[in-house]
Amino acid sequence: MTSLIKDLDILTEVQTLVPEFKTTPEENVPGSRKIYIETYGCQMNYSDSEIVMAVMQQNGYSSTSNIESADLILLNTCSIRDNAEQKVRSRLMHLKGFKRRNKNLKIGILGCMAERLKSKLIDEEKMVDLVVGPDAYRDLPNLLNEVDEGQKAINVFLSREETYADIEPVRLNSNGISAFISIMRGCDNMCSFCVVPYTRGRERSRDAHSIINEAEDMFRKGYKEVTLLGQNVDSYKWSSDNETEKVNFAELLEKVALINPDLRVRFSTSHPKDMTDDVLHIMAKYENICKNIHLPAQSGSSSVLERMHRTYTREWYLDRIKAIKSILGEECGISTDTIVGFCGETEEEHLETLSLMSAVKYDYGYMFAYSERPNTPAAKKYADDIEESIKQKRLTQIINLQSAHSLERNKQRVGKTYKVLIEGFSKRSVEHLQGRTSDNKVIVFPKGDKASGMYAHVLVTDCTAGTLIGKLV
Ligand code: SAH
Ligand code: SF4
Ligand code: F3S
Repeated sequence: MTSLIKDLDILTEVQTLVPEFKTTPEENVPGSRKIYIETYGCQMNYSDSEIVMAVMQQNGYSSTSNIESADLILLNTCSIRDNAEQKVRSRLMHLKGFKRRNKNLKIGILGCMAERLKSKLIDEEKMVDLVVGPDAYRDLPNLLNEVDEGQKAINVFLSREETYADIEPVRLNSNGISAFISIMRGCDNMCSFCVVPYTRGRERSRDAHSIINEAEDMFRKGYKEVTLLGQNVDSYKWSSDNETEKVNFAELLEKVALINPDLRVRFSTSHPKDMTDDVLHIMAKYENICKNIHLPAQSGSSSVLERMHRTYTREWYLDRIKAIKSILGEECGISTDTIVGFCGETEEEHLETLSLMSAVKYDYGYMFAYSERPNTPAAKKYADDIEESIKQKRLTQIINLQSAHSLERNKQRVGKTYKVLIEGFSKRSVEHLQGRTSDNKVIVFPKGDKASGMYAHVLVTDCTAGTLIGKLV
């Protein structure tokens, strides 16, 4: 049990479904300059690093997983909480040594910290040569020319149009089975605690044809699962220049599902105010659209939700949960993000979050203590007045409750058989394979005659809060 709670603890440090950071794989192109890229933060950032590598490869660079052999180190950064930024600051301290040893080494900061701090980053961190915001990656080769001439280079221009639709991402650290596809950028929601609208700019949707083409291409290359990414996928809305063609999220989801029944489709993140029954009906109609919804509640208290400017109430949220369960059934996976200790959160308001969790019984939860972000509406309007010790106490409470709910939800699966997409060997043994069910549960089982990338039917025989254990049927 302790190790399970530890697992959940780790999850509180990490953005949705993505490891803390990933690095580039080795790629040997003789004579080319080598880039080592580290990605922090959410799936959007991870997906952006793949665009960055595509831009750089077109300009004669190649990637390396060996930091010692890099000519350029890029950190694609996150600003969502203060500790996300501190992690990058201490990484930069560590990189100083590399620069001392290799006088030609250049260091660049990309992503949300670059956008939030702009030239301040160059002033504060002397080893940084390059600062590039999320909408300026096409400019990287030009900026690097400036750096080669001995200057510091910066581009943090935010665009209303850029979606990198025409750039074919270079898949980094891919298992060759599942891939992310960005369908939109930016966010217009202005949740009061959140830095994303300032670091990623206005919401814009990517050309539907380019999304379908990318998904078809992935399937041709042997991929079996795509995850459509956006800060608020339900508000995806694209129309052709002459407005003859209009595509909303439900329609896009259907088009991707129709590519092939063997291509699984996932998506993230859904916003409770925008998630429509249309999307749920499309999910119900296609077996290959995974029955899993990440629907962050943030809080179970309507008064806190109002201060957070989430624009829905507890009742509205519970109505959406009811719709999921009635259209997709009790077994649809549901996960959430929760913030404890938001400005002015009373003990009663906190108890409402615990009671919402008990009413929904989430399969999974990402849980955070509120971290004030400079210049956000909450920072301007409210005091960050909940003591750190209380934030931590509340965080532990929700982590423990979520751990119990995850175990309870997993136990309901024991004795049943599920279709699993195999992702590789289990972490502990090459005699066992690991895969995921449609509702996003990790399952481990003896390999039999199966291999990575195949579908298998697996009977669940046991479970922990984090993993199902099973055998092939
Ligand atoms: N677009 C997604 C969230 C992206 S950020 C959505 O609306 O749900 C991922 C999560 O980080 C958020 O859901 C929230 O729970 C958390 N988060 C964002 N800002 C935060 C802050 N200032 N302090 C603590 N957690 C925060
Ligand atoms: Fe941030 Fe809210 Fe946008 Fe999510 S929906 S990215 S929490 S502003
Ligand atoms: Fe993602 Fe962090 Fe930016 S969560 S959008 S990388 S602030």
